[in-house]
Amino acid sequence: MSVSMQFNHKRLQSDFNALATIGATAEGGVNRPALSPAHLEARAWYAAQVKQAGLALQIDGAGNHSALLRSPNPSAPTLLLGSHLDSVPEGGRYDGALGVVAALEVLRSIQEAGLNLPVHLEAIDFTDEEGTLVGFIGSGALAGTLTPGDLQNPRGGREALLAGLTRAGLTEDGLFTARRDPATLAGYLELHIEQGPWLYDSGVDIGVVSGIVGIASFRLAFSGRANHAGTTPMAARRDAGLGAAAFILAARQLVLDNFPGCVANVGALRLEPGAFNIIPGRAELALECRAVDPAELDRLQTSLLERAQREAESFGLGLEVSALGQHAPAPMSQLAQQAIQEAAAELGLSSQSMPSGAGHDAQNLAPLCPTGMVFIPSVDGISHSPHETSRWDDCINGANVLLGAALRLAGSSDCA
Ligand code: GLV
Ligand code: MN
Ligand code: MN
Repeated sequence: MSVSMQFNHKRLQSDFNALATIGATAEGGVNRPALSPAHLEARAWYAAQVKQAGLALQIDGAGNHSALLRSPNPSAPTLLLGSHLDSVPEGGRYDGALGVVAALEVLRSIQEAGLNLPVHLEAIDFTDEEGTLVGFIGSGALAGTLTPGDLQNPRGGREALLAGLTRAGLTEDGLFTARRDPATLAGYLELHIEQGPWLYDSGVDIGVVSGIVGIASFRLAFSGRANHAGTTPMAARRDAGLGAAAFILAARQLVLDNFPGCVANVGALRLEPGAFNIIPGRAELALECRAVDPAELDRLQTSLLERAQREAESFGLGLEVSALGQHAPAPMSQLAQQAIQEAAAELGLSSQSMPSGAGHDAQNLAPLCPTGMVFIPSVDGISHSPHETSRWDDCINGANVLLGAALRLAGSSDCA
């Protein structure tokens, strides 16, 4: 089987550009939170491309949208290629979208070349990768790691989840029907922008992902006493905002001092009642922390929560902690990493092994089947921003590596 086939660059670019108009923002990015009208429009666009290509369209109970190119062997396992069409609020055009259009282009190219593979090929767009609702709904449902409990107190709030499911014609029970038997999966490959500065700064063409960080998220609520902002003496206040502010600064220092290579982020903060002249009685914040090593992720979250408790006590506040889900760190398979590295070398591209600090659907697939990720440079390392950009030549390189790696994995004896 030839592994040096390349694909139709113009068609890939025109797909990418068409997709970027859906949910486009004035700043040059896209706003397609999971199951929003814009996200559903992007999915309808994808479904139309799949049908136009003469590929079978499959939509599962979790809303995952797939193009299928079947092997002549009906009992062959399936090699998944894909990413996601949802975005963070006010996000960029490349995160997720590039991986989906490239996966579709791989299927079209193989179909047009008339290649018969020993695996079914599937280009999949996963639901809610970005966690604006729950986080990894689609890949978690497919892998069987999504639980009914995850839907009760999700990151984006239960009301938003129920509204999104209704808008998309999905149901809570239906999500769980998307589960697949791992024996039916030959592997999973995902092309993605790096979303950090390393490849761009070092001039390396392709990142071969070695593993993906684990992510734990929490909602913390500091509770004090709302009171008159003008008449209450400074020393007599139980200001919930001070607990939150002190914790945010302390969390940064704690990670810098004790957890090299890890990160923590407070990405949302709400003070209540929220007025100029009332001392905040309650401060709610959204905390996320990430580590590549499972034991370190455990230590990191324990230390952060202990620190939050100490800050609450020092300002005379109460503290409620809600755990909002945890995604385990995931090493990528050696087989997939080798396929990606060889595909890059064959194309004359430089490559480097590197971890991913961003979460990806690949982390849910990794325990089930040989899983790998191809990274390309992000200009200035900017992502989750309308200014997120990758050079088009790098996008083409990444898509060609995805094609080469898919053909290698499809032909490998462990896979077929
Ligand atoms: C997904 O992009 C994440 O890392 O939050
Ligand atoms: Mn992504
Ligand atoms: Mn993202």
